Amino acid sequence: MKAIVTRKYGSPDVLQLNEVDKPTIKDDEVLVKVRAASVNAADWHMLRGAPFPIRFVSGLLKPKNAIPGADFSGVIEAAGSSVTEYKPGDEVFGDLSNSGWGAFAEYVAAPADAVVLKPTGVTFEEAAAAPMAGATALKGLRNQGQIQPGDKVLVIGAGGGVGTFAVQIAKSYGAEVTGVCSAGKVGMVRSIGADHVIDHSQDDVTQSDNLYDFILDTAAFRASSDYLPRLSDEGVYVLVGGSTKRMIQVMFAGGGKTPAGRKRISNFLSMPNRPDLDTLRALMESGKLKPAIGERYTLSELPEAMRRVEEGRAVGKAVIVMEHND
Ligand SMILES: NC(=O)c1ccc[n+]([C@@H]2O[C@H](COP(=O)([O-])OP(=O)(O)OC[C@H]3O[C@@H](n4cnc5c(N)ncnc54)[C@H](OP(=O)(O)O)[C@@H]3O)[C@@H](O)[C@H]2O)c1
Repeated sequence: MKAIVTRKYGSPDVLQLNEVDKPTIKDDEVLVKVRAASVNAADWHMLRGAPFPIRFVSGLLKPKNAIPGADFSGVIEAAGSSVTEYKPGDEVFGDLSNSGWGAFAEYVAAPADAVVLKPTGVTFEEAAAAPMAGATALKGLRNQGQIQPGDKVLVIGAGGGVGTFAVQIAKSYGAEVTGVCSAGKVGMVRSIGADHVIDHSQDDVTQSDNLYDFILDTAAFRASSDYLPRLSDEGVYVLVGGSTKRMIQVMFAGGGKTPAGRKRISNFLSMPNRPDLDTLRALMESGKLKPAIGERYTLSELPEAMRRVEEGRAVGKAVIVMEHND
């Protein structure tokens, strides 16, 4: 089968399209013919082995897992002897970031408990776009922010992977959503349901008079404290991602309540789990959530897709569409 292989850390140039053996499955795994995969910021972090601490998980000197890629969708071709809930022909999607990666390939061996059935009426591409970014947005809004109907929610990085899911999931909770993004993404962010969109090259949201119950920051390239004046009395600022420096600052500060009031700062690390995938499936099936796919690539074009995502240029999600010759 064809797969992207990385034998050393580096830029997208180290990604090679190679012919490799089709994976064999263990008793508790399924063999999935991959129909689509999607690119997350985590993929380029793994590619570069940066920030350095991730190497304690990904491999100190070179990547432990030769085939990258977490998010995928596809059709089960074979199921291991102890797998009871799936059979060949079932359409599934999942996130392999906690179970060996390997999604940027024509076939993948996935633990059965890392996949769920693909939502009906949703394309393979849409399903592959959802797992990591969708689950991160969901956890940020539901677990960290405890979002309520009527909340005023600000999503920073609303035109990116996590942001496009956050806008739609917040709307599904009945929130009033403002998205912040660059000029080229304004139309798309409006089209996915944001009530208000701020182009950060024109307006600085930290200088406005608006107050938000909840700020989800997926593009933290400025200090969290800049946003605190924009939080309502018991508002929550949740840092999802952005510059490593900002992430580390909030991580070491430990989050918690602000000294002067009841506002709260928090951050979290999203780990894949089945209940979140099931929630995303239900949201997609109901039509409340439609992954915003801004770009499509073939497997051989993965380096370009990675570059676009790393530079923050990708609009919504970048999806790899698998071309099988058999
Ligand atoms: N905490 C967790 O568990 C978790 C899980 C998933 C992702 N993350 C992190 O969350 C962040 C967002 O992930 P994502 O998948 O949404 O990424 P993404 O699709 O690349 O979106 C990030 C957005 O950040 C903005 N941006 C501004 N300046 C940028 C720069 N210098 N470089 C890159 N982007 C820039 C871009 O929006 P504009 O062009 O509109 O400015 C871009 O759309 C990443 O840092 C990722 O590592 C964390």
